[in-house]
Amino acid sequence: MSAELPAPPARSTSRLSTDEALSTRRSVRAFLPRPVPRSEVEELLALASRSPSGSNIQPWKVHVFSGALKQRITSTILQAIDRGPREQYQREWNYYPVNWREPYLGRRRKIGWDMYGLLGIGKGDFERTEQQRRQNYEFFGAPVGMMFTLEEDLEIGSWLDLGIFIGSLTVAARGRGLDTCPQAAFADFHTLIRPMLGIPDNQIIICGMALGYADPDAIINRLATERAPVQQFASFDGFEADKEGAS
Ligand SMILES: Cc1cc2nc3c(=O)[nH]c(=O)nc-3n(C[C@H](O)[C@H](O)[C@H](O)COP(=O)(O)O)c2cc1C
Repeated sequence: MSAELPAPPARSTSRLSTDEALSTRRSVRAFLPRPVPRSEVEELLALASRSPSGSNIQPWKVHVFSGALKQRITSTILQAIDRGPREQYQREWNYYPVNWREPYLGRRRKIGWDMYGLLGIGKGDFERTEQQRRQNYEFFGAPVGMMFTLEEDLEIGSWLDLGIFIGSLTVAARGRGLDTCPQAAFADFHTLIRPMLGIPDNQIIICGMALGYADPDAIINRLATERAPVQQFASFDGFEADKEGAS
């Protein structure tokens, strides 16, 4: 079992420090219907666009939507899932390795167990698991949805740049009391999403994102995710020598 986080902090108009925004960011999977004005989204995107990119090429493209169009995306995808077969909807890119191995497999399993455990969904309860998965396509109730795309002839470097941009956006949102959930789940349905958002064929749909205000009462928003300690993923060299040199 994992520890539960406290409820997300109540709405606030004050700005958080970078440290606070980074340490309180989490993927929120239940939002309030409270709208987010277009001007606020534009400010967040302008902040995120300060992200670094190789040679400053700024390859990111963002499609932002709300209201009836967001609803149409939700209903089109859910109807397609209901019609089946699901296998006909495949993403254009592989997020994960084909052959899972440790430590990634264990981490992936843990987040699944913790999330479904928190919701009281037992192993093998396929119906409730699927119900929860479907929430992805409702943007978890968020008032704003986004789709991130890249032109297909761009290279891995641009994927890196887009990842930094998305990360910055999540932190910028948190800094203003908003929350996000990046959503690769949408990439499976690129053939359905593309015409609805007027995304040309030469753009790859990388992932989506829900943006809004977290529902402080939703148990799923208490999901506490772990991180490996710094010593496990970073190596350091030369610091002792520096200290000696300084004395
Ligand atoms: C690119 C990307 C795509 C993701 N796609 C989904 C998704 O489709 N659905 C979902 O519920 N969470 C998604 N997540 C959220 C991850 O599960 C989450 O970041 C991870 O478990 C760590 O939890 P935290 O964000 O709360 O710290 C995605 C995260 C990233 C970075």
